Amino acid sequence: MSHRPSSPIGVFDSGIGGLTVAHAIHQQLPNEQIIYFGDTAHLPYGDKSEAAIQAYSIKIVDLLLEKGCKVIVIACNSASSAAYELLKEYVGRQAHIINVIDPMVELVASTLAGKKVGLIGTKRTVQSGIYARKIKEINPKQDIYSLATPLLAPMIEEGFFNSQISHEIIANYLSDQLLNSIDALILACTHYPLIHKEINDFYKNKIITLDSASVVTKKLSSYLSEQNLMNAPAKPVHHFMVSDFTESFEASTRIFFGHEVKLEWYPLWKQDL
Ligand code: DGL
Repeated sequence: MSHRPSSPIGVFDSGIGGLTVAHAIHQQLPNEQIIYFGDTAHLPYGDKSEAAIQAYSIKIVDLLLEKGCKVIVIACNSASSAAYELLKEYVGRQAHIINVIDPMVELVASTLAGKKVGLIGTKRTVQSGIYARKIKEINPKQDIYSLATPLLAPMIEEGFFNSQISHEIIANYLSDQLLNSIDALILACTHYPLIHKEINDFYKNKIITLDSASVVTKKLSSYLSEQNLMNAPAKPVHHFMVSDFTESFEASTRIFFGHEVKLEWYPLWKQDL
């Protein structure tokens, strides 16, 4: 790896949900340039097969490597569960890869041992069983009660949060028997920071709820400082690319990034479209 501190950070997701992670990076590491790729042509990843997600992710990572990224953050739980091991091997020493699952696993294993921990996420993430497996590797006695909540990501993308509809859907899912009397809940989807408060309201702030955006940014920050790869004070210009452009995606960036950003259409799958 021959990266400079000024090399960019690559961040990718199935769509625009990963902008919650990009936003946390932008806020906590303001000197770092972000190159974001949202695979809007293939979203949602949560319902796709492992093989499909792996194929999409490899192509995205190729592009981010071409752009000279020093670190690539997989800002999607579905892609992290389906493709991280493969990508790590594929990328080798060309860049460092961070997924959204391991930092959360470390946090849960070190702070919530002996507690009843629930998890919500996409079908792909929940079916993979990856959180439970990795947490058990550290704390063999710890069980994770995982519930697939596939309506939540599209609901948020359509702007339904902090509303009566979202309250009802969230309450319906969280009332599932499986999550009965949990002490903590992992929000295992990068869309969910947007409904973090609603989830806390549902539990009347009585349980611990964890989302990955800031945990992952902390992991990135310690990697950069350990490797002397933290950029010097700068005013970076970020790039936000998507594989399929619509005005509605662009409008939704405001929801996830805090303010609207310009999306650049990058036809990664031009020949297939
Ligand atoms: N943001 C993705 C994740 O974290 C969920 C959206 C999707 O299914 O593509 O899993």
